[in-house]
Amino acid sequence: MDAKEISLNEKEVKPVVDLLNEYLANYHIHYQKLRGCHWNIKGQNFFTLHIKFEELYTNAQITIDEIAERVLTLGKPPHSRFVDYIAESQIKEINTIGLSDMAMVDAVLDDMAILIQIERDLMEASDKAGDDGTNDMVNKFMQFKEKTTWMLRSFAGKK
Ligand SMILES: [Fe+2]
Repeated sequence: MDAKEISLNEKEVKPVVDLLNEYLANYHIHYQKLRGCHWNIKGQNFFTLHIKFEELYTNAQITIDEIAERVLTLGKPPHSRFVDYIAESQIKEINTIGLSDMAMVDAVLDDMAILIQIERDLMEASDKAGDDGTNDMVNKFMQFKEKTTWMLRSFAGKK
């Protein structure tokens, strides 16, 4: 499989593939953070946030698979080792043990801001490469996080 099989230029699409792998790395660290929040949440918001974090990591898991398979569709192998994810991810791991519920919400919001920024870069790169498929996919993922940002900020009583 090569990008040319789907009428795309391999050289033009390379920046998109590289960014998708970076995106994948960030998403994996974000995913594991959400699981940590789901497991270690304590306090009065337990029932609300335990469920919300599960909903978010389930969505992230599906998104991760779509990103990796888009890389394959563009003719390249996706990163699949945690050593690469940790090295490439702008999003950093945190210890969720003992973290307050609102600090967890803030940590998730910070991750989402980074992911949205990468998505905007990806949409620009895919637009330049004429890669409408990636553009459309990433746009949908971004809209989900834009909306989730509003909801989490509202939950936290932020403006
Ligand atoms: Fe669970």
